[in-house]
Amino acid sequence: MSWINSLMARSFGRKPKAAQNAQPNLVFAAPPAVREGAPAKKPLDAAFPRFQSMAGDQLSPRLNDRFASARIKLRSAFTPSQPITDRRMFAGRVDVLTTLIRSIEDQRVHVIMYGERGIGKTSLVHVLTRAAEEARYIVVYCSCGAGSTFDEIFRAVAADVPLLFHSGFAPTADASERGGTLADLLPATVLTPRLVADLFAKLTGTRVLVVLDEFDVCDSPEFRRNIAELIKNLSDRSIRTQLVIAGVAADLTELVEHIPSIRRNIFALQVPKMSATEVNHLVENGEELSGLTYDKAATEFIVFVANGSPYLASLLSHHSGLAAIDKGRTNVAVEDVSLAVDQALTEFRGRISRHSQLQIDHAAKTGVRHVLGVMAGAALFNNGRFDDRDIDALYPSAANAASFKATIEELASRQILLETHEDEYGRGYRFSEEAVLPYLWILAAQKRFLESRKPAATDKPAVPTTPDKAPVAEKAAAEKPADKPAEAAGATPRAAGRP
Ligand SMILES: Nc1ncnc2c1ncn2[C@@H]1O[C@H](COP(=O)(O)OP(=O)(O)OP(=O)(O)O)[C@@H](O)[C@H]1O
Ligand SMILES: [Mg+2]
Repeated sequence: MSWINSLMARSFGRKPKAAQNAQPNLVFAAPPAVREGAPAKKPLDAAFPRFQSMAGDQLSPRLNDRFASARIKLRSAFTPSQPITDRRMFAGRVDVLTTLIRSIEDQRVHVIMYGERGIGKTSLVHVLTRAAEEARYIVVYCSCGAGSTFDEIFRAVAADVPLLFHSGFAPTADASERGGTLADLLPATVLTPRLVADLFAKLTGTRVLVVLDEFDVCDSPEFRRNIAELIKNLSDRSIRTQLVIAGVAADLTELVEHIPSIRRNIFALQVPKMSATEVNHLVENGEELSGLTYDKAATEFIVFVANGSPYLASLLSHHSGLAAIDKGRTNVAVEDVSLAVDQALTEFRGRISRHSQLQIDHAAKTGVRHVLGVMAGAALFNNGRFDDRDIDALYPSAANAASFKATIEELASRQILLETHEDEYGRGYRFSEEAVLPYLWILAAQKRFLESRKPAATDKPAVPTTPDKAPVAEKAAAEKPADKPAEAAGATPRAAGRP
């Protein structure tokens, strides 16, 4: 079963009882005394890699590294591979959360949250869950898997709702006293939306939020049809149960089929990328929790490369913090972020197919890689898509824009990293492989940021304008040697088609 059952979800962020009670001295029980006459053990090779902290988060007594504790704190201050479950680490999103709470509380609608991978949907869902629990909602979190079925999900949901909230059971009745749940009332036959709605119609004295996260992972049309039907049933009968659905999607219809029938009953929210201020907060929260300080320029570097992605911001903050600690510092400098960016690039490159890697390397030689990187920045939060309007916005000079469009068109026609793409917004381009986008973008952003710090003849080092603003791209274009024609990767040289 690939979805997390509600019990697991409810214990998010809490240590299991056993771990809470564990005595640190048990973890570090003294090694058995060496018997006299026993052959002396070879000392462990100090250089051999080993874990630096114990599984219970205590410092290893073998290590006298005074930064070991900073390292442990940093690990929980930035968790790039896990969603946020602790409100202290949750940055920004105040408007989004307010809107979500209002629609659940005031409009009593069901919520669908969609957006790009890593934009922060699950983190939002966790924080929303906490807020709802504070208001005594029963929240049941389910992470959908490829094989999730309506039946198994709603059996698990019902198992989390105590019978004492069923209008047919007095709080003192035997079954509710014994800790029974709504699941006890379900038939053995496969659950249908009507059956579930009939059961939840009996709820009294509470409200239930059913969170279906990673909804995109389960693409069974039957599952989606059942969910749409359930939303309709719950809404039509004003049942005290609301759904919160979250998943990766470019638009709403991609996430929920049969949407026309339930459009009035849902509030759909596309989770936006974070503002620079919000990413700044993300770094500040981590500073507070880890005890490290990030130099102003280091934070600016992180904010610039993150480009609104909490995932990238968390990843770079984490890696750069570790880089500083490795050098025996508790302040994070630009050079640490640079190392972090290199490390991220290695990670992202590993996710790209060999075929695309070769095309990217060729694009670097032919001078179009940076241009592709700038466009990747624009496409990063647009389902990997961009079109001529994005190029015009990035390259206001008509001559640059025209030659760039020609280069892009040629790359797409030869299916080099790009392909043409038609949708309701018209003709555009898409990166042929999702993993290529962050890689190309980070390369371009790193180059731009570091170049902007090189002292110019008269200028002080400046933070580059965000890459979706024209000046950066224009400057990049201007900085390219005018006599060096760019060429499409693998294509014939094209005069003036430079980034
Ligand atoms: N508001 C936030 N404050 C701080 N960090 C955040 C915030 N939102 C997300 N993050 C960080 O960004 C990363 C991605 O977040 P999350 O897993 O919530 O995204 P997601 O949209 O659910 O991703 P996926 O599409 O892969 O399911 C995580 O490392 C998380 O720690
Ligand atoms: Mg998620």
